[in-house]
Amino acid sequence: MSFPFHRLRRLRNNNSIRKMVQETRLSPDDLIYPMIVTFGKGVKKKIPSMPGCFQMSVDETVKEAQKAHKLGIPAVLLFGIPERKDTRASGAYSDKGVVQKAIKTIKNKIPELVVITDVCLCEYMSHGHCGIVKNGKILNDPSLELLAKEALSHARAGADMVAPSDMMDGRVVVIRDTLDAHGFEDMPIMSYAAKYASAFYSPFREAAESEPAFGDRRSYQMDPPNRREALREVALDIEEGADIVMVKPAMCYLDIISDIKESFDVPVAAYNVSGEYSMVKAAAIKGWIDEKKIVMEMLTSIKRAGADLIITYFAIDAVKQL
Ligand code: PBG
Repeated sequence: MSFPFHRLRRLRNNNSIRKMVQETRLSPDDLIYPMIVTFGKGVKKKIPSMPGCFQMSVDETVKEAQKAHKLGIPAVLLFGIPERKDTRASGAYSDKGVVQKAIKTIKNKIPELVVITDVCLCEYMSHGHCGIVKNGKILNDPSLELLAKEALSHARAGADMVAPSDMMDGRVVVIRDTLDAHGFEDMPIMSYAAKYASAFYSPFREAAESEPAFGDRRSYQMDPPNRREALREVALDIEEGADIVMVKPAMCYLDIISDIKESFDVPVAAYNVSGEYSMVKAAAIKGWIDEKKIVMEMLTSIKRAGADLIITYFAIDAVKQL
């Protein structure tokens, strides 16, 4: 029997009942706050395309990390802008690099805060690509060595977790082997497993000054129309030793998050990327949407799709609403 016997509106009668039957709950523990660290001192430079986000020197990064920690956000994800870029991404694995310094300072001041580092070469390469370039091609295998060096130097600086985002084949196993060989067998890897060649990254590229000088990233990042391929990427990364797998971007890729959650037992992270952030901010500034409500709906939907962890520039705004 159906209507009038069944009435789904009964459980929507008031807020208390709605809360009792709520299926998805966002918690501060789900959130990871990304931050962009730059060189210098006392620097807190606005990122025009990402209102409310800044490039910060180490001292300012620590202040912001403190704020996140006090609000109950368990983890930050660090990106670096080096003073000089070159064709070997030297800044990525220098012990004096901006990220390495930020890790040390944060872990010293806020030991409980989980410090995750983005492992990639694009911000450190003069050409802005995520690997070594030769004759206009992005080389896979030679890039792995640099990525492993970068991950190891983050581990040595005291990072809690590394997150490779370059999309070179085989990076997870090379990073795992390198970490293990140097006594970091307990350090988890969160791989950007299904990272798509997305137009949603453009505000970040302005923020991290990592726009490729020629071509694009489509020879290494995934093609947006592909769904089954994401499962292959994830399966390989898990086989190679990834502890957490990530889908990126999040909002247009909820099907991918859901597929991965159904098919694998590892925790799934989703990256609510810069373009997703900037679109909401821009519409909110125009007064066209209710930012607070949109942010919660967006993050809850990403979790409902299957994400256990959400990397979001909205982390601080969101946690205040929880
Ligand atoms: C580096 C990297 C990018 C992002 C995270 N790590 C940029 C890219 O791949 O071009 C994007 C983050 C964002 O858009 O918020 N490879």
